[in-house]
Amino acid sequence: MSNATILIADDDEDIRLALNLLLSSEGYQTVEASNSKEITITANNQKPDLILLDMNFSRDTTSGQEGLAILEQLAPLNIPIILMTAWGSIELAVQGLRQGAVDFIEKPWNKLKLLNSIKQQLNSATLNQQNQGYRQLLSTEHSKPWLAQAKSMQAIEAIVEQIAPTDANVLILGENGTGKSLLAERIHQLSQRKHAPLISVNMAAIPDNLFESELFGHQKGAFTDAKQNRVGRFQLADKGTLFFDEIGSLPLSLQPKLLRVLETGQYEVLGSSQTQTANVRLISATNADLNNLVQEQAFRQDLLYRLNTMVITLPPLRERLEDIEPLANSFIDKFSAKYQKTAAKLSESAIKQLKQHQWPGNIRELSHVIERAVLLTSSDEISPQALLIESNQNQVNAVTLQPLEVAEQQLIEKAMSVCNGQVSEAAKILEISRNALYRRLEKFNISYES
Ligand SMILES: Nc1ncnc2c1ncn2[C@@H]1O[C@H](COP(=O)(O)OP(=O)(O)OP(=O)(O)O)[C@@H](O)[C@H]1O
Ligand SMILES: [Mg+2]
Repeated sequence: MSNATILIADDDEDIRLALNLLLSSEGYQTVEASNSKEITITANNQKPDLILLDMNFSRDTTSGQEGLAILEQLAPLNIPIILMTAWGSIELAVQGLRQGAVDFIEKPWNKLKLLNSIKQQLNSATLNQQNQGYRQLLSTEHSKPWLAQAKSMQAIEAIVEQIAPTDANVLILGENGTGKSLLAERIHQLSQRKHAPLISVNMAAIPDNLFESELFGHQKGAFTDAKQNRVGRFQLADKGTLFFDEIGSLPLSLQPKLLRVLETGQYEVLGSSQTQTANVRLISATNADLNNLVQEQAFRQDLLYRLNTMVITLPPLRERLEDIEPLANSFIDKFSAKYQKTAAKLSESAIKQLKQHQWPGNIRELSHVIERAVLLTSSDEISPQALLIESNQNQVNAVTLQPLEVAEQQLIEKAMSVCNGQVSEAAKILEISRNALYRRLEKFNISYES
């Protein structure tokens, strides 16, 4: 990388001149800066590939504090920095290396040593960038596709894009398998915190007595079983995102402990009196009806208010008919690759059956159904038989045999309750006339709005 740009940061004009000559003759581009303000501005604007930073500015020739302060300001730029220190100030050099500098050179410098160090650092910086690009490629390759074409998903998509980059707490609601966990991942990936970790905590899976230790960590000896220090989830997720899955199953007795850290942003590691500050973005998910739990006094209202700054409700798959075929196709590709088969196509009647199914297990159920179908299919077409999903025939089998009159009464009661007692609505669902329904309501003594 010989056409690299190097920032020479030194307050001594003679030194800048000498370095400029040396580096230009080696084919490098140079820019110069003479004080801390100039250094940060030039580094930010010109984005040099490397910085040579003098540590002994005239205002403060001995301690090098000013140099260390500049180093700290430059750190977020991720540019390799080689320190130039006065001969004998090895202490300062070490401190600088600890703060992220990549190498140091003693003044007066040995030309060859200096040039070698520059070359080496530029090489490894390029390599690092390549690795970073590679890692990103890997992560996008591994990230699961997010399909959302259905009308019921469009408003959600718009909201997700809007709120993901903010730090707003998000509560994701939806039936089992509707994509709550995947959406949490997606929000994290679209956020400013994407380079920091996303830490998931399944609230239903933590034993009550380990709850605090799990979330806040503990010090060795904090309680009988605490044999080692333990880092809590809040700390693991520092600067990143914390995902509380199945938040609805958090026992009432533990809710105040969570509430406190959400209200104050502060917590203590068990066994330590030092207060820690939480820096996490919170996403939670549940398939429970939290408002209902609040009414039943099983979930604290104040905790709910902390979690539900933004609420996203994922629709069940049966309300995302347009997404069924694309989702099924993406699962066919996935499982065909997994089982090393050529991807078969869904037959027209198979697609029809997929669209008629009720999908109580939503997208997860669809994924299982397709996995099985891929395994069962050896031709180039997936037939309805390979789907093995409950057809209407099985639904008929599920009906309990009972006197016709009892079944009739139950059906009418159900229709009336779904329609909030509106006779004309219920009559439509049952496909009988309003008068026919009135007669039966009187007969079975079912109340209705008149
Ligand atoms: N929009 C989507 N596009 C593609 N695949 C999806 C989508 N949403 C969910 N999936 C897939 O469906 C499956 C279930 O999703 P996920 O685990 O996120 O659901 P969930 O709502 O968290 O379920 P649970 O309630 O059981 O926790 C996963 O395999 C996931 O990758
Ligand atoms: Mg989940």
